[in-house]
Amino acid sequence: MDGTGDYELDHIILTRDAINKRVSEIAASISEEYRGEELIFTGVLKGAVIFMSDLVRSLDRSVDAKMDFIAVSSYGNASTSSGAVKMIKDMDTYIEGKNVILVEDIMDTGLTLSYLREMLMARGPSAFRTCVLLEKPDRKKVDSIMDYRGFTMPDEFVVGYGLDYAGKWRNLPDIWCVTKR
Ligand code: PRP
Repeated sequence: MDGTGDYELDHIILTRDAINKRVSEIAASISEEYRGEELIFTGVLKGAVIFMSDLVRSLDRSVDAKMDFIAVSSYGNASTSSGAVKMIKDMDTYIEGKNVILVEDIMDTGLTLSYLREMLMARGPSAFRTCVLLEKPDRKKVDSIMDYRGFTMPDEFVVGYGLDYAGKWRNLPDIWCVTKR
């Protein structure tokens, strides 16, 4: 069996087909809301890269989609959130008066999303939306508005489709549960 350190892949919890279907549905909703408008897709590195790249390619072509990235640190190499959020890389785009959509792979405690919402809202975007592929409601510590959501998940440690353990398994097309050896 494939593995890294003290964790190994156990079973698939979300197949690539289920993910693709949901990503298309979210893209259709976003396209409906922002048809003909500019929208700055802001991915939170590194986990959101795969989700965001599929999402923007599923949009209606009338959406004027721009891409930018932001990096924060919350987990480090541990499998649970430390609660501390630190900015590592800011986005490059000047967002005052623009439509912004923050794209995240997962909301766990909600600390990262609420930190980024507050920071980016202070820059005066004309609209600010959040789009999160996975939500773990059992782990939530702070309420944070999610405008577009892919799936709600049980409190399992998951990897694949951008999600990692110690930098590994982001490239898997399906989302897997991992377990301790
Ligand atoms: C993950 C995820 C979110 C954050 C969510 O990032 O991508 O940014 O944790 O956790 P929270 O709701 O408890 O704040 P991580 O720090 O693992 O970085 P990565 O995206 O580079 O894997």
